[in-house]
Amino acid sequence: MKIAHFSRWGFLMAAVGSAVGLGNIWKFPYITGEYGGGAFVLVYLLTVVLVGFSVMIAEMLIGYLGRRDGVGAFEDLAPRHKERWKYAGFMGLSGTLVMFYYSVVIGWIFYYITLSFGTLPATIPEAEGIYNHLMTQGIGVQIFFHTLSFMIVTAVLVRGIKGGIERFNLILMPALMLIIAGMLVYVMNLENFSKALSYMFVPDWGRLTSEAFAVAVGHAFFTLSLGMGAIMIYSASLEKSSNLVRASIFVIITDTLIALAAGLVLFTLLFQYGAEPAKGPGLVFISLPSVFHAMGLVGNVLAVLFFLALAFAGLTSSVSLVEPMIQYLIDRWNMSRIKAAVSMGLFFYVFGIVAIFSLNTDTASYLTWGGKNFFDWVDYMTSNVLLPLAGLIMAIFVGYVVEKERVASVLQEQMGWFYPIWRCSVRYIAPVALFVVMLNLMGLIEF
Ligand code: PFF
Repeated sequence: MKIAHFSRWGFLMAAVGSAVGLGNIWKFPYITGEYGGGAFVLVYLLTVVLVGFSVMIAEMLIGYLGRRDGVGAFEDLAPRHKERWKYAGFMGLSGTLVMFYYSVVIGWIFYYITLSFGTLPATIPEAEGIYNHLMTQGIGVQIFFHTLSFMIVTAVLVRGIKGGIERFNLILMPALMLIIAGMLVYVMNLENFSKALSYMFVPDWGRLTSEAFAVAVGHAFFTLSLGMGAIMIYSASLEKSSNLVRASIFVIITDTLIALAAGLVLFTLLFQYGAEPAKGPGLVFISLPSVFHAMGLVGNVLAVLFFLALAFAGLTSSVSLVEPMIQYLIDRWNMSRIKAAVSMGLFFYVFGIVAIFSLNTDTASYLTWGGKNFFDWVDYMTSNVLLPLAGLIMAIFVGYVVEKERVASVLQEQMGWFYPIWRCSVRYIAPVALFVVMLNLMGLIEF
């Protein structure tokens, strides 16, 4: 099996493109708002450093040593019980499931880009009306823009690692960074920037419930694209003798800086124009458009740029969510890339439509079980169950199963004195943390 190689910069941009997604710009600010700011951000940052970093290296290592699809990599690297470990590899294919809702949200963003060219809603109730109408009645609009998202993602994936994924990221990621940096400079000159700073960085420990704690840890994994095979499949295309440690540090720092910058931009604007920071998933779709309206023409320009950046972030993550499955089909089922990409595209496209119907007032009741609709179930199962579980399995696999010498042969030199600390983290700290958090996210334990 032959996997094309990324260039070094191409790999970094693709990995950052995967990590920086809707999680950074849409989810991070609204969950920070919901769970009370500073203390939540601190737990998230600590998890990124203490657990996320070591699991990212573990996931990169599996891809890098395996040099093939996720399932094959687990099989090749397990010295014994290859048949059993193969099933762990299947967990890394679950990214395509995330696309059931991820592509739908990208569709909303496209819709908001079109809105930003015209008159934006002047008040929060008006903005709420537009958002709620889109959610509960706008089936046609949602399907239209979800189709656009499906077409772009599939077109990139059909072109493969070099001509598709690498090129796409090399253009969109620098553009996204430029937009966010520009917006950050803009808000730094506003009066309420310092208020946003203290909202995000001064912890109010009283608001850190056990749920907030678990959500912060879960989000740290989601935002770093861990546990879904994305980082793994990209690392299978790394040049030999690449430095995994440096690459993960780069990805983690860039991902974190972009999330923090997006949060600061959003909260400064919200405070400046007296809007609510704790608005839930509607934060960027409800509070923000009315803020942009209040800013006049500058607001329209900022709105277009902001939603474009959000779309770029979402699209570059999307390709990484589906690529592991495509590589699996190519490797194991001997499918051509075009056939694999189109069939996986259609797969998430169809279920995305089910997700859209599950939000609609007329059809929601048929697609709701146990108080959650299909859209929420997919989000819940992927973020709260599959992702931490797969992260846990990867840490255990690299910490206990892959031969020690093989792991050391790559990482010891790259890490130096840090190597024993990393090993301790993948063997003990990460599995325990992930296990506890997973049980909490599933509502099985409280702490
Ligand atoms: N990291 C992406 C985000 O923050 O939106 C989401 C994601 C992409 C998760 C790829 C997992 C993955 F494999």
